[in-house]
Amino acid sequence: MNILKNKKILLGVSSGIAIYKAVDLSSKLRKLDVDLNIVLTEDAKKMVSPTVFSAVGNCPVYTDYFNEVKDGWIPHTQLSAESDALIIAPATANIIAKIANGFADDLLSLIALAFREKSKIIVPTMNTRMYNSPALQRNLELLKKDGWIIVEPEVGHLACGEIGKGRYPDNEIILEFLEDSLTKKTLIGKKVIITAGPTVEPIDPVRNITNKSSGKMGYELARAFSYSGAEVTLISGPANINIPYTIKNFVKVNTALEMKNEVMKYFNDSDIIVMSAAVSDYRVENYSNIKIKKDKDNLIIKLKKNPDILKEIGKIKKDKQLLIGFAAETNDLINYAKRKLIEKNCDLIVANDVSKKEIGFNSDFNEVYIIDKMGDVTHVEKASKREIAFNIVSYISNNYYSR
Ligand code: C5P
Repeated sequence: MNILKNKKILLGVSSGIAIYKAVDLSSKLRKLDVDLNIVLTEDAKKMVSPTVFSAVGNCPVYTDYFNEVKDGWIPHTQLSAESDALIIAPATANIIAKIANGFADDLLSLIALAFREKSKIIVPTMNTRMYNSPALQRNLELLKKDGWIIVEPEVGHLACGEIGKGRYPDNEIILEFLEDSLTKKTLIGKKVIITAGPTVEPIDPVRNITNKSSGKMGYELARAFSYSGAEVTLISGPANINIPYTIKNFVKVNTALEMKNEVMKYFNDSDIIVMSAAVSDYRVENYSNIKIKKDKDNLIIKLKKNPDILKEIGKIKKDKQLLIGFAAETNDLINYAKRKLIEKNCDLIVANDVSKKEIGFNSDFNEVYIIDKMGDVTHVEKASKREIAFNIVSYISNNYYSR
């Protein structure tokens, strides 16, 4: 599920030095199959030609309120009425001041004034002294009150040579804000725990036992649940993945025992528990405080079974809590998964075949089967892990939380 596919997005561009990054944003939006329109301010037009935006975004570009719109009408009323979302990036202090105070003397400010209760995102970027000025901050407060979502600039090296807050953030972050703002909030008020990634069991101060889990599926589930309005606690073993900005509670752990402790802390207060972590089944019984020397031909390390977190939660879960386990198998997938669902007292099991090279561990893709307590199996076809995660979350919303 590509949330942005065929959505009508209007990108407003003003004349910040970071304007070249807005060209990349228009390229990224095009690749996400959005129905794109772009508006440039007069000064933006002096910095980057409308032709560049039109070619890279493969879309119409408007610069003037006297421009003609495709099916003939008034550009500012038509574009503001028909678009699902408006993003202004980069937004200068000038366009922010105009919009905050209701000025409407160019195409972009006219559109902003006419753009009512829809997704409105603004990305202020400028010199740090301008950004921190009382007037700019006052105007941003006004925008927030009027329902604008502010994507805060980053701290770093600025075009003027100064260092401070004011840099254009990563376009991926702007896209996260956009996707979040356009996702139906079906799980508002629900508290969700998600375990993700591998766990790491130390042998000595420099060696570990771990597994091949990347954590991608769990992080995408955390994203999908949080975009749907749920309050997510992501409990993760070591994973090299950016945490979606919508995750307000991120807990990093290393070992299975640490993961279990954290799950237990949040368990009572949660509505949905999703166990997607690849928890190490064993830990080292006699951890060595000093580095083990390689002076023997054979080294025997004794392992001790770790707690099965999912099984323990299954024993104590309350009826109103929804418990979701994962099953990674190499053969007889559905039967093993069904058995696991019963053994661990889950409400749902998400099963995937890890013998297929192009999906599963470390891949960006997956293909899963969702199995419920009645034994009904729903196939989710091969897709990116992000799409799979959104499909799993909409399955849960539709089957358990829709009125
Ligand atoms: O038994 P198996 O490891 O195949 O079960 C996988 C499911 O159990 C996953 O949901 C995983 O997160 C969970 N699990 C767990 N604690 C363990 C082992 C697995 O929570 N020690």
